Amino acid sequence: MEDLDQLVAQARANFAQSATPADLEDAKAVFLGKSGRLTALMKGLGSLSADEKKTHGAAINLAKQAVEEALQLRRQALADAELERQLRSEAIDVSLPGRQHSPGGLHPVSMTLERIEAIFGSMGFEVADGPEIETDWFNFTALNTPADHPARSMHDTFYVEGGHLLRTHTSPMQIRHAVQHVKRHRANIDAGRGMPEIRVIAPGRTYRVDSDATHSPMFHQCEGLWIGENVSFKDLKVVFTDFCRSFFESGDLVLRFRPSFFPFTEPSAEIDIQFASGPLAGRWLEVAGSGQVHPNVVRNMGLDPERYIGFAFGMGPDRLTMLRYGVNDLRLFFDGDIRFLAQFR
Ligand code: DAH
Repeated sequence: MEDLDQLVAQARANFAQSATPADLEDAKAVFLGKSGRLTALMKGLGSLSADEKKTHGAAINLAKQAVEEALQLRRQALADAELERQLRSEAIDVSLPGRQHSPGGLHPVSMTLERIEAIFGSMGFEVADGPEIETDWFNFTALNTPADHPARSMHDTFYVEGGHLLRTHTSPMQIRHAVQHVKRHRANIDAGRGMPEIRVIAPGRTYRVDSDATHSPMFHQCEGLWIGENVSFKDLKVVFTDFCRSFFESGDLVLRFRPSFFPFTEPSAEIDIQFASGPLAGRWLEVAGSGQVHPNVVRNMGLDPERYIGFAFGMGPDRLTMLRYGVNDLRLFFDGDIRFLAQFR
């Protein structure tokens, strides 16, 4: 009979040399397969005597167990190696810094515009949006500022092709919005039934040839317009005072209406505010122009100035933002320096 120790040693060696599970199965067949060496030995037992069967059979069984054990160990080793390889190939380096998604934030002027819209919205004002490229009619003429009016020289205007210009203020939105409103209610107006009041603000970008610490060629304005049959300067004072106190969260802030001139209002006033406390306390700060809408402007809205009256104002959201946050250079808002802007997040 074959030397069983040698057979077991050979099986161990063959298994150890098998680098893949398929190789290992081939090696197994040589020893344990249907026509494998151990199987052949078992078959050979039939021709032996009863005593020999016992001793040989027991020895072969031991050898078989040893081979099966060796096979099992090698299977496990190959499976472990495969798992190890897979884990390594899918490894994630958790010590690498992650990709940062820094939260964005609104621009401080946008926050001011949202604030203005929310406060005026709570007082029943609509928000209207209009073109930044304007016609001469809406920007000047319809606002009682004819071609030779000296007020035009106050606006160093950017003119663009086709007789258009970059709007120098948001006031053209007074006309644009009112004309639409009047158009919708024309039939009732003509029949003497009147119309719902016009109550609107129009925030947006405006442009003038101007640049220093407090002027930027692009800046923001917010127009306000309130037209009805019984709207007075008193209403303007109440509304604007409420607005400023809400905006600055300062209940003891006071307003001053300082006589001024605008072609589209008569009388006209600059609105100054004064804080009772804080770093700016006691100083008068100009925040808006205002006035009772000029009869010529009311007429250009398509309304009869004998019946319809109201007031308008134009304020500077950039300046309001500077005052609210204590920023002293307007240009910081438009340089786009993230170190500055991130402070408002
Ligand atoms: N449009 C004016 C400007 O740019 C501001 C202004 C003043 C608007 C008086 C108004 C107003 O509506 O009534 O300086």
